[in-house]
Amino acid sequence: MTYEEARAQLPVLEHLAYLNAGTNGPLARATIDAFVAQAQRDLREGRTGPAYFEHMLELRETARQGFAAVLGVEPERVALVESTTRGCATVLAGFGLSGEDEVITTDQEHFGLTGPLHATGARVVIVEADEDALLRAITRRTRLIATSHVLWTTGRRLDLHRVKRESGLPLLVDGAQSAGAIAVDVGELDFYTVSAQKWLCAPDPSGALYVRDPATVRVKTPSYFSQDSYELSGAFVPKESSARFDAGWIGIPALLGLVTALGTHPEWRYERAVEMAARCRELLEPYVEIVTPPRHSTLVSFRPAGDPVEVVARLRDEGVIVRELPGRNLVRASCGWWTNEDDLQRLVAGLVSDT
Ligand SMILES: Cc1ncc(COP(=O)(O)O)c(C=O)c1O
Repeated sequence: MTYEEARAQLPVLEHLAYLNAGTNGPLARATIDAFVAQAQRDLREGRTGPAYFEHMLELRETARQGFAAVLGVEPERVALVESTTRGCATVLAGFGLSGEDEVITTDQEHFGLTGPLHATGARVVIVEADEDALLRAITRRTRLIATSHVLWTTGRRLDLHRVKRESGLPLLVDGAQSAGAIAVDVGELDFYTVSAQKWLCAPDPSGALYVRDPATVRVKTPSYFSQDSYELSGAFVPKESSARFDAGWIGIPALLGLVTALGTHPEWRYERAVEMAARCRELLEPYVEIVTPPRHSTLVSFRPAGDPVEVVARLRDEGVIVRELPGRNLVRASCGWWTNEDDLQRLVAGLVSDT
């Protein structure tokens, strides 16, 4: 697929400099066509019958394989959950933590991780977002390290393989800003979440959870898809695979949209996204203070001259879509494989006209 063919799949780019995949990625026409065609079919024919149910189950497995390909893992270790938040909550609930236990996290996490983390009742140890700081905070009460691979605020990427190697502890990774954005090597990491509506450009909400060894966490929020068999009492035999952590029903229109979205990304996606982020930095550097370290991710966060809320609103008026990071005095541009020079020049022009 050439660059022009790949970009032409995403109609929003025809009129907007859309630099906000860190929130929701641009949708492909084929993704929405698949979704709408099935919804129309369901409107006419209903949503019932063994063939309908079988189709839904098959699509779930296709989606699972798609996520497995993104993470370079076996599909048996992937659960279908609707979001990173749900993935984090599933793991944390299943860990059976109490007030005696400590979980180490950083001061740059999203509520999608910190919310479920605080709800466990464990002692949450918050450190600077840095590999050494995470390692230094370990005590004999530490049960888990929970952190992002790419920080949604500064766009810094953490070396979590080093943290895993040197700590030997279970690691829960929030992959919302990494999966689909940068090449991910899950390797020895234990739990890895994916938000598909962001860098994978799927309908929202959609996502996945990688669990290396399903036996290490309990199934605390079972869905129909978690079990191999169950009794009327509610007792159930969980599936062998990580599918035991599957969240609830996903309708066929949404599954078709998801599966189509997972298939719209060109092979060269990661190389180009990182190049475009580097180009974005280069263009912005003369005008604003950039806080993202070079070549860490596809996010470029910067401190604008004016009030970030106003800067983002004014850029929107010019057709440039970026976001403000609340309470941090930062604006964040998300660069994907689809981003081109014109998008970035429009961002710079909008910022310069502002100063
Ligand atoms: C780092 C991070 N974690 C979690 C989330 C929440 O993602 P989801 O809506 O898939 O739960 C976000 C969303 O922006 C995020 O940036």
